[in-house]
Amino acid sequence: MEKAISPNKGNIAKIKTGIRGLDNLIEGGLASGSLHIIAGGPGTGKTMLCGQLAYNLAKNLNTGVVFVTFEETTEFLLRNLKFIGIDLVPLYKENKLRLLDLYTIRGEGLEGLFAHMLETIEEIDARVLILDSLTAFLAACKTDFEVRSFMKKIEQRLREQDITTIATLSVQDRENLGLETFIADSVMYFENKMQETNFVTQFAILKMRGTDHSRRFHRVLLTSEGVSISSN
Ligand SMILES: Nc1ncnc2c1ncn2[C@@H]1O[C@H](COP(=O)(O)OP(=O)(O)OP(=O)(O)O)[C@@H](O)[C@H]1O
Ligand SMILES: [Mg+2]
Repeated sequence: MEKAISPNKGNIAKIKTGIRGLDNLIEGGLASGSLHIIAGGPGTGKTMLCGQLAYNLAKNLNTGVVFVTFEETTEFLLRNLKFIGIDLVPLYKENKLRLLDLYTIRGEGLEGLFAHMLETIEEIDARVLILDSLTAFLAACKTDFEVRSFMKKIEQRLREQDITTIATLSVQDRENLGLETFIADSVMYFENKMQETNFVTQFAILKMRGTDHSRRFHRVLLTSEGVSISSN
C-alpha cells in the first residue's frame, strides 16, 4: 500500500534529534519552534532522554540549550548522565548549554520561574528549552483552567521566539495523559512493560502534528553509549 502523503513534508523546519533510531520515525526530527512532550511513568527514561537531547542538540546543531530541572539537583543529573556516557560539562563551558535548577527558587511562583527561564535563554541565545518536568512546574496551578491558561501562555511566548521546547510529563498510563498534551504539538510516550521475569522500556509517538510518524511501539535502549530507539 502507498505510504500516506504528508502534505507538510519538506515545509516544516525540523531539528534533528541525533538520537539513534528516532529521527527516521518522525520524518527527520522535531518541528522547530514547537512544544514537544515526553510523557511516561517513573523510571521510564524521560530524564535520560532529555540529557541525551541536550547533549546532541548543543553539540551537533551548535544550538544553545537551556535545561531546566525541578526534581533533581544539577549535580545528581550530571552524575547520572555520566553513567550513560553523556558529559554536559564541556558544552556548559562553551556557553552552548545552561542548567537551571528551579527547585531551590520554587517559592517565586510560576511567573517568576518562567522569567528566570527566559533570562537564561537570552543569556546564551538558546534555541532549545528542555523542561524536566512540566508536571512539577505546573504543580503550583490550582485548577485545570490555570494549567491550560499558563500552558497556552508559555507555548505562545516560546513559539514567538522560535524556541523549540521539550518538556517531560509524569503520567500513570496512556489513557490519562492530561490536558497539557492537547496543547502540545507532539507527544512521545514511554512505558515499562513486564515480560515474564523482567521489564523492558518501550516508546510510541502518540501525536506529532504535521508529521507522518511511526504508530508502533519501539524499544528504548539505555546503555553506556546513551539512549537509543530500536527499530523493532
Ligand atoms: N547506566 C544505566 N544503564 C542502564 N540503565 C540505566 C542506567 N542509569 C539509569 N538507568 C535506568 O534509567 C532509569 C531512570 O531513568 P530516568 O531518571 O530518565 O527516568 P524518568 O522517566 O525521568 O523517571 P522519573 O519520572 O522518576 O523522573 C532507571 O530506573 C534505570 O532503569
Ligand atoms: Mg525524571
